[in-house]
Parts: sequence; C-alpha cells; structure tokens
Amino acid sequence: MTPPRTLVLVAHPDLAASRITAHLTTAIRDMERVTVHDLSAAYPDRRIDAVREQELLRGHDTIVWQFPWHWYSVPGILKEWMDRVLTYGFAYGAGGDALHGKRLQLVLSTGGPESSYAPGGHNRFTMDELLRPLDATAHLCGLDMAEPLVLHAAPRVDADELERHAARYRALLTPAVAVAGL
Ligand SMILES: Cc1cc2nc3c(=O)[nH]c(=O)nc-3n(C[C@H](O)[C@H](O)[C@H](O)COP(=O)(O)O)c2cc1C
Repeated sequence: MTPPRTLVLVAHPDLAASRITAHLTTAIRDMERVTVHDLSAAYPDRRIDAVREQELLRGHDTIVWQFPWHWYSVPGILKEWMDRVLTYGFAYGAGGDALHGKRLQLVLSTGGPESSYAPGGHNRFTMDELLRPLDATAHLCGLDMAEPLVLHAAPRVDADELERHAARYRALLTPAVAVAGL
C-alpha cells in the first residue's frame, strides 16, 4: 500500500509578518510526502485557480488547513479558496464525491488563551462550538475531520513551547509505520 500523501494549505494574509504560522510551516516543509501550498504566495491577487486546486486535492489523502484564527473564523484567503474550490459536482451534490474518505486536519492558532474559550469566558463559546461551521463543511464534503491541533495564547507562547508544538505537528503528519509481525 502506498503511504498517504498530505496537502497542507497554509492560509495567512502576511506570512512574512507571522511568527506562529511561519514557524510551523518551516517545521514541516522538508517532510516526505507532504506538499506545502502557501495560498497567499500562490495567489497574491486572490484569483484562485479552482481547476489546479481540485487537481491538488485529488492527488492527496489528507488535507490540512493551517491558519491563524481571525475573527472567529478562517482568514479571507481560505474562505475564498473554499468558495471557489469546494464546488457542486466536485465536493458536494450530484457526482460531488472527489473528497469522500479523505481526512481534514485543522491546524490553527488563537490569540486568546484556552480559558477564554468557554461559556462565561471572554470569547463566550468553546473552540468546538466555534469550529462547527468547518465541521459541517467537512461533513458535507465527505471529509473525515480529525481532532484539530490548536495553539492558544499565541503571543505568549515562548520559543520552547512553540518548538514542542511544531514537534507535535510533525508527528501528526507522520504516517503510522506498520510493523511486520505485530
Ligand atoms: C485580523 C485578526 C483577527 C484576529 N481574530 C482573533 C480572534 O477572533 N480570536 C483570537 O483568539 N485571536 C484572534 N487574532 C489573533 C491571532 O489568531 C494570532 O495573532 C495568530 O494566531 C498568531 O499567528 P501568526 O503569528 O501566524 O500570525 C486575530 C488576529 C488578527 C490579525
């Protein structure tokens, strides 16, 4: 069986000014069978090539959406990507089964601490609740949504914690090795 291929869509409006997304992107760039696709670099004018993106999706088994949490949602470039690429007949609706059985992994960072994402907290809702539109999107497209990898309190994360988080991310993208005889 061929090992799975992973497509990482990096969605940051200004990667040069990013600390977290930039660090995590560097951490996974050299991984085998992982394609890193920086959407803002590929489409500086935001004119997303849906045919090219759909071909990329067809060629991979796991899709990662890696992004900073912006206004309780994904950055605009990823929303634009969804609007253009997840079309009727491709991702949903009659004949729209291109993504069925693939895996969706969310990798995101937030400014607010974990404790603020709770009823009665500063952000009022849990991350699970706020991620429901993405969960519903995955479900409509037949994608199996994995447990999101979330880094909270991004501005207060020190270099060691960021490194440990990057190691967790790399481990997530490393396919389990089948050991003969087990
Ligand atoms: C336009 C914008 C909107 C943001 N909205 C939120 C938000 O809704 N909730 C939150 O916890 N953090 C929010 N943040 C903080 C970012 O999530 C945080 O700075 C980011 O995850 C850090 O990653 P980076 O270094 O890759 O930019 C926002 C930041 C920006 C610039």
